[in-house]
Amino acid sequence: MRNFLTTADWTREELQSLIDRAVEFKNGAQPRPMAGKSIALLFFNPSLRTRTSFELGAWQLGGKAIVLSPGKDAWPLEFEIGTVMDGTAEEHVKEAAKVLSRYCDLIAVRAFPEFRDWNVDREDRVIKAFARYAEVPVINMETITHPCQELALMQNIQRHLGKPDGRNFLLTWTWHPKPLNTAVANSALLIASKFGMNVKLLCPNEEYLPDERYLGLAKRYAGEQGGQFEVTHDIQHAYSGAEFVYAKSWGALPYFGRWEEELPMREANRHFIVDEKKMALSNNALFSHCLPLRRNVKATDAVLDADYCVAIDEAENRLHVQKALMTELLAH
Ligand code: CP
Repeated sequence: MRNFLTTADWTREELQSLIDRAVEFKNGAQPRPMAGKSIALLFFNPSLRTRTSFELGAWQLGGKAIVLSPGKDAWPLEFEIGTVMDGTAEEHVKEAAKVLSRYCDLIAVRAFPEFRDWNVDREDRVIKAFARYAEVPVINMETITHPCQELALMQNIQRHLGKPDGRNFLLTWTWHPKPLNTAVANSALLIASKFGMNVKLLCPNEEYLPDERYLGLAKRYAGEQGGQFEVTHDIQHAYSGAEFVYAKSWGALPYFGRWEEELPMREANRHFIVDEKKMALSNNALFSHCLPLRRNVKATDAVLDADYCVAIDEAENRLHVQKALMTELLAH
């Protein structure tokens, strides 16, 4: 039995095989390998794209998706082992994961960090608990990484740029009024470096660096795949030569749980917004974002409405890559 918790557990060749199958779905293939099968979609956080694309994808493959929001329309869950459950949780993940495994053939989980202590959140305990106790494959729908988004991004890069090796990828931090999850930033670094791209990470200062785990993997993949990995705080240098600009906002990890202390530093960096002037510094770069995106906060209207913005293509790809993923996991 195979899980899809992080792309770090899958080889480049295996991920390429998923993307190749996703391209077949994009081109109109209509197999129904999920006939009579089902997937439980557990959302601890809101979603537009992930919920719609998984639910629709399961239906298009001939299967059925059950959407549950623990704590809202399903019982609140406990994850601590050996605890006295005299708080709000009515059910332990041990029973929940096993029961869902008796009904469903796949379990998918979205569980964002709690944003109180990164040392706790980086353990990714919710999805790891499901993976430990489930008796069917578990899929990550975004926790501290967003591996389905990674596949959609790489499918998009390959469609628009061709072979990714040696192409210049820029991940830029942007301002946002709230401190956001680092998951998509971590994921963008993983997938771009794993596919041999020259990756630049632009952020205001060292406090905004993602977890060393992902920086380390990006460096390792760059070494293995013949790409380069560079961190910069210089906007002009970052955009120079870029062929694919990917934007995301995230909170500074050292300030997890102390966001009022981070606020002045974040406020001082509103100018990291992606605008036409910065895009003009690039090598005719494409622009994308995982969405949702606040217009004129992370990127300007002009960038989002430009021909070089391929964010909607990436969102569409979520449907195709997840159909490829469900097909693959059910085949084993
Ligand atoms: N990109 C993404 O995961 O979108 P949702 O949060 O709407 O699912």
